[in-house]
Amino acid sequence: MPTKKFSPIAAACNNMGIGKNGDLPWRLRNEMKFFTRVTSETQEKCKQNAVIMGRKTWFSIPEKYRPLNNRFNVVLSHTLTDCPPGADLLSSTLDEAIKKLSEPPLEDKIDKVFITGGTSVYRESMESEHCHRIYLTRIMADFDCDTFFPEFDKNVFKLVSDPSIPDEIQEEKGIQYKFEVYERS
Ligand SMILES: NC(=O)c1ccc[n+]([C@@H]2O[C@H](COP(=O)([O-])OP(=O)(O)OC[C@H]3O[C@@H](n4cnc5c(N)ncnc54)[C@H](OP(=O)(O)O)[C@@H]3O)[C@@H](O)[C@H]2O)c1
Repeated sequence: MPTKKFSPIAAACNNMGIGKNGDLPWRLRNEMKFFTRVTSETQEKCKQNAVIMGRKTWFSIPEKYRPLNNRFNVVLSHTLTDCPPGADLLSSTLDEAIKKLSEPPLEDKIDKVFITGGTSVYRESMESEHCHRIYLTRIMADFDCDTFFPEFDKNVFKLVSDPSIPDEIQEEKGIQYKFEVYERS
């Protein structure tokens, strides 16, 4: 059974910050729409994409938006014993989560797999040979953050252009940002 590939997706500001006090440091509606579009779009209508996230990221999502709709929500935790209400799967390791998504009965139901944070989950995913792409929104501004996107190897992941991803600089609430896609070379 081939292991499904996966792709982290994140938005990070100038100092690579991604979070503050268990929340996002910014509120950018269209950036959030981009996240929703990329993580929701599937090639086959009968399939869903999976989003894999750490416990803190899951609980950072406002309750009314949990689970992320039209996606198969996987939560990683060593401490939770029951799958949090609304989530589809609880797993105690990233490898186990990917394995479950890659074999029956989920294998045929799941299209793409996205890693949606936080820091340690991003890091572990980008160290794996199964990491396919990195979707990184560069927020071109300074925010006070306590959670950061990890370094990744630019010799392994190269910036690519994807016709479905706008390449011009975006602007919202006076904050500029751009969408970057890196792909394993
Ligand atoms: N800007 C962005 O794109 C973005 C994206 C996502 C999150 N965020 C922000 O980032 C912050 C949350 O991220 P975080 O790094 O603090 O926490 P996190 O990774 O979401 O959650 C950490 C917890 O997840 C569990 N976990 C992580 N890796 C695991 C693994 N490999 N196996 C099993 N369990 C694992 C552990 O839970 P247990 O302690 O239960 O074992 C760990 O304590 C929030 O501020 C959020 O808003 C920003």
